[in-house]
Amino acid sequence: MTADEECGERRGRLDGRRVLLVVAGGIAAYKAAELVRKLRGEGAEVRVAATAGALRFVGVATFQALSGHRVRHDLWDEEAEAAMGHIELARWAEIVVAAPASAHLLARFAHGLADDLPTTLVLASEAPLLLVPAMNRVMWLHPATQANVAHLRARGVTVLEPDVGEQACGEHGPGRLPEPALIVERVQALLAPGPGERFSADLLAGRRVVVSAGPTREPLDEVRYIGNRSSGRMGYAVATAALRAGAEVVVVSGPVGLPPPEGVRVRRVETALEMREAVLDEVRAADVFMAVAAVADYRPARRAAGKPAKTAGGLRLELVPNPDIVAEVAALDPRPFVVGFAAEADDLEAHCRNKLERKGLDMIAGNLVGPGRGFDVEDNTLHVFWAGGEVRLGPGAKTALARDLVALVARRLAERRRR
Ligand code: C5P
Repeated sequence: MTADEECGERRGRLDGRRVLLVVAGGIAAYKAAELVRKLRGEGAEVRVAATAGALRFVGVATFQALSGHRVRHDLWDEEAEAAMGHIELARWAEIVVAAPASAHLLARFAHGLADDLPTTLVLASEAPLLLVPAMNRVMWLHPATQANVAHLRARGVTVLEPDVGEQACGEHGPGRLPEPALIVERVQALLAPGPGERFSADLLAGRRVVVSAGPTREPLDEVRYIGNRSSGRMGYAVATAALRAGAEVVVVSGPVGLPPPEGVRVRRVETALEMREAVLDEVRAADVFMAVAAVADYRPARRAAGKPAKTAGGLRLELVPNPDIVAEVAALDPRPFVVGFAAEADDLEAHCRNKLERKGLDMIAGNLVGPGRGFDVEDNTLHVFWAGGEVRLGPGAKTALARDLVALVARRLAERRRR
């Protein structure tokens, strides 16, 4: 029993966290009432926004009594807007949960419609979005719904798989709302770390951390190379955060235009093979390896001497695969705590979970890349996965994300040692 509990103050897993619950029109809407109760039971503050359809299944009074707040359902409700405008409410939310999410709601979210209050709130919010679909099995399996779900997941939205079983319509199949307890667990996992879980100056005291950062350059000849757009910002931010957390830090850095973080030892390399050698050398005595570098997957099979002149015809390059450095470190025995990074264009969770397993990592931090996202920008969002959990960090500055990530690594490392 904690001191707080002895004093009679129960601490919930979601103490003080701000959850905006969107309820759509489906028979499972009645289970949303139980979800509100459970979220509040864990200490969360809950505000409910209901679609017109939802209120045909469950009355305003129910959600109001359970949440302790007025239920929002009308974009044009002057009184409610005067108390807390819809943009303010969207900003207030630390997470938006839609449960049940109907086929129609999924379609509207997928296409960015904002034709009622709940859809407007979702579009105006930067908080993580957790969708919990529940509907008739044929509607769920319909290619239109499945395409909308795939589209939403590709955008980084978390969409839970519905449970399989007896449905209210008498059919059997996928489409039931998952248990509210499980939804509460996912809410907890998706929320950024709370004040009690954040960074402090002694989190990694006495630990040695190796970080790989930046791109690699794979030479074609003595002048030209194949490279990528990694700026090294995330890797340098991670190294700085680890240093501030009390660790001794080595960065194995590809060519970047950033000043080396003060207090961090930097080993400069160019190619993936050089990076591999330096990393393997440094991790022997390390507690943590964080592979933030964007290592080139291939290198030219041959490196020409000098600078061969341009010829009239085309040029055929033969490329050979580079070693996977992070997978090699993860296969060492003994080995440090290994964190991989992944930049993906779609379905972040599936790709990250696959790499976590395939490369034998302890943790992986994924981010979606595309126009204006991920590379060469200051702000980012990280979705972090490990065997038994996940958390979303950001959106925020790479420096802030790096500190949250380092705090997370320190916690997982401490847990691993306790086992
Ligand atoms: O497979 P993918 O390149 O997406 O994996 C990304 C992760 O693997 C990053 O942590 C990156 O630093 C690491 N990696 C590596 N060696 C490679 C390729 C990627 O360490 N050759």
